[in-house]
Amino acid sequence: MEQATGEAPARRHRGEQLEVEIDSLAFGGRGLARADGLVVFVAGALPGDRVRVEITKAKKRFAEARTVELLSPGAERIADRCTHEGEPCPGAPWQGLAYERQLAEKSAQVGEALRRIGELDGFELEPIEAAAEQWRYRNKLEYSFGDRDGEAILGFHARGRWDLIVDVDDCQLASERGNAARNAVREWARLESILAYDGRERTGVLRNLIVREGWRTGQIQTRLVTSAARFPKPPVDLHTAIEGDSGGTDGPTGALGEERLREELFDLKLEMSHGAFFQTNTEMAERLYAIAADFAGLNGSERVFDLYCGIGTIGLTMAKQAGEVWGLEIVPEAIADAERNAEQNKIENAHFMAGSARTGVRPLIEKAGKPDVVVIDPPRAGLSQKIVRRVLECEAKKIVYVSCNPTTLAPNAAQMVEAGYKLRRVKPVDMFPQTPHIECVALLEKNPAS
Ligand SMILES: C[S@@+](CC[C@H](N)C(=O)[O-])C[C@H]1O[C@@H](n2cnc3c(N)ncnc32)[C@H](O)[C@@H]1O
Repeated sequence: MEQATGEAPARRHRGEQLEVEIDSLAFGGRGLARADGLVVFVAGALPGDRVRVEITKAKKRFAEARTVELLSPGAERIADRCTHEGEPCPGAPWQGLAYERQLAEKSAQVGEALRRIGELDGFELEPIEAAAEQWRYRNKLEYSFGDRDGEAILGFHARGRWDLIVDVDDCQLASERGNAARNAVREWARLESILAYDGRERTGVLRNLIVREGWRTGQIQTRLVTSAARFPKPPVDLHTAIEGDSGGTDGPTGALGEERLREELFDLKLEMSHGAFFQTNTEMAERLYAIAADFAGLNGSERVFDLYCGIGTIGLTMAKQAGEVWGLEIVPEAIADAERNAEQNKIENAHFMAGSARTGVRPLIEKAGKPDVVVIDPPRAGLSQKIVRRVLECEAKKIVYVSCNPTTLAPNAAQMVEAGYKLRRVKPVDMFPQTPHIECVALLEKNPAS
């Protein structure tokens, strides 16, 4: 039983089980509990829950654990809506929290990260933008295959279990169309008696299925990842492409459907290759980019750098209000998409360059000249200190930082503030209801007027 003492907490061991009560939510979304003075981060539990947990990592001052059994739910817990074979959906770990509470937690975590990690203040933390849809909002989901009683199952890894797959019939994060596509692929696998790949035994075929959807176009793209094996052709209307794991596959290869996914944002018609990044919530991507454009406050004359531009989405949505836009992105396929997207939408003032942010910013300045506005939208790791220095060399009046991780935004923004920028506005945006993931847009200005 837990109790607070002044002494050093008793060391726990991996695999040990204990009962704890969750006090609050830690950054990243896990429940936080104390056991004999030891801080325990618990996956799969929410505030007020009393749970039996198993320690997965034991350190001197803290431990990490996974929920084994929910002994009594917290008073505020709401019933899980998305479950698979009785297991809560691993893609929706916050579904037991009322949506208003999810929003409040996310907003508080953005403010706290900036103040505590970045030691920043004086900025306006604007009200969080709630999601347009709390369920069925994802345009991309990845599933794993498993076998049960001699036939394929297709779903998610049970939480914290690499070896256990729960079969999915209706995931409420996916659209009905997306669910139907996944179920059709499983039906095909069962009909053809094709089994999941077993890494230990090196038998079987099917590994993963990625279902991607053009939200506004209705197009479905399914991508099947398999071992190198011979197997019957899947139904063509599923637009299935096959990948081998090493040295290709003997099964049907190449795209049987359309190679690129078509999507629409504002009045733009976009296409993306399967290797290119695209926001997984189309409706909220539009809101996110509208907020970024508002923060940029363009008047039609500015030169804008869109760093980490993907298929060009942010730059292309800003191009009409800017003098010119220059995108930089490390994935060449995505740059080819961005160029095609500019051309197909008849946008002539947007240009793109393939390259890394670390080595590409200086050549971009040489080619285009220094920008007035820099938009940055990096992966979760944020920017290295060196990349921040490259961004500072742009000497832009404004930096609009689109972040999917406030704990990396915070030190990056602090480095910019140190160099003379002021953090003015921060707006959290909820792209991923039922999960702890937080997106936000920050505006930094050099020598702002007030
Ligand atoms: C969060 S995504 C944003 C993409 C785009 N702005 C959008 O909203 O669709 C981050 C992008 O950064 C790219 N990227 C990752 N590391 C990079 C680097 N070192 N330099 C340039 N781009 C990078 C990824 O390929 C990805 O397209």
